[in-house]
Amino acid sequence: MSAHATIAPLEPTASLSVEKVLSVTHWNEHLFSFRIARPASFRFRSGEFVMIGLMGDNGKPLLRAYSVASPAWDEELEFLSIKVPDGPLTSKLQQIKVGDEIYLGRKPTGTLVADALLPGRRLFLLGTGTGLAPWMSLIRDPDIYSLFEEVIVVHSVRRVSDLAYREVLESLLADDPLVAEEAAAKLTYVPTVTREDFHTTVRIEGLIESGKLFEGGSATPPHFDPDHDRVMLCGSMAMIKETAEMLEARGFTEGSNAKPGEYVIERAFVG
Ligand SMILES: Cc1cc2nc3c(=O)[nH]c(=O)nc-3n(C[C@H](O)[C@H](O)[C@H](O)COP(=O)(O)OP(=O)(O)OC[C@H]3O[C@@H](n4cnc5c(N)ncnc54)[C@H](O)[C@@H]3O)c2cc1C
Ligand SMILES: NC(=O)c1ccc[n+]([C@@H]2O[C@H](COP(=O)([O-])OP(=O)(O)OC[C@H]3O[C@@H](n4cnc5c(N)ncnc54)[C@H](OP(=O)(O)O)[C@@H]3O)[C@@H](O)[C@H]2O)c1
Repeated sequence: MSAHATIAPLEPTASLSVEKVLSVTHWNEHLFSFRIARPASFRFRSGEFVMIGLMGDNGKPLLRAYSVASPAWDEELEFLSIKVPDGPLTSKLQQIKVGDEIYLGRKPTGTLVADALLPGRRLFLLGTGTGLAPWMSLIRDPDIYSLFEEVIVVHSVRRVSDLAYREVLESLLADDPLVAEEAAAKLTYVPTVTREDFHTTVRIEGLIESGKLFEGGSATPPHFDPDHDRVMLCGSMAMIKETAEMLEARGFTEGSNAKPGEYVIERAFVG
């Protein structure tokens, strides 16, 4: 047997291209993000998700849905990933290194896009855990600031170290080449940590009820208003269900690509 046994390279298919990993950042033992090359043919709208993966043990691609965390203008693609200890994909994906190859689906899709919302004044992006990923795409896209006067990103996590991108968000994207100026004027970052000491420790529902969610902006009402507010929800199914029910009770209707509405949802995982 050769001393240089290598893993067979991935082969593109009709639905999958093969892309190189360009960088990897480990946030903690549960979370990492990585960037891959973006093929010229890959078009998507900020906020969409796509299938990505590795070769499975059975010789077939092992794929999972991932929100793209980078904006539509970026030459690279970024993803934020959980590390599920025995997860079929993420137990392997968490080991990727610069220069490795991964599969990238050719057909991004999704509802967490500006097109699925009616025009409005304030945009609330409410996420738990890896549900932050689509917000990182949307808030780095200049289009979102031309559509909304205020953009409020909420990230609810269990632990302080789960606050991925915290410094970038606290700086309001100060180093971003395209949106730094708009973000400084229009973006508000509301992190909350529910299982450790932090300045804010309530769940999203608590932020809404206490009015804290509405403090950062320029004064419009301290509650949701379906005439002017638009909401995107991503993360745990329970959070999405409960928040969507609360929004519906206040007169919001769910939007889709076919019929835009006042709010849109996407689960960040199945289970
Ligand atoms: C539309 C959509 C978009 C998604 N976007 C992302 C993303 O941007 N980043 C990401 O990490 N995952 C995302 N996921 C989840 C992702 O598809 C996989 O489930 C995840 O990568 C774990 O894969 P796995 O094979 O290791 O384990 P799986 O067998 O897929 O999952 C095992 C269990 O782990 C838990 N779990 C899985 N993913 C998550 C998660 N993200 N957060 C909390 N618990 C989880 C669930 O309880 C699940 O049943 C998305 C899922 C959907 C449907
Ligand atoms: N992050 C960790 O430190 C950690 C550690 C061990 C295992 N895991 C595993 O990893 C998986 C995902 O964990 P995660 O931390 O990414 O996701 P998560 O459990 O969904 O928690 C993320 C955030 O969502 C909040 N949340 C959960 N249900 C909600 C609801 N119904 N309404 C409003 N907010 C809600 C949580 O608040 P609450 O804290 O109040 O629930 C937390 O702030 C889980 O299966 C977990 O067992 C995570």
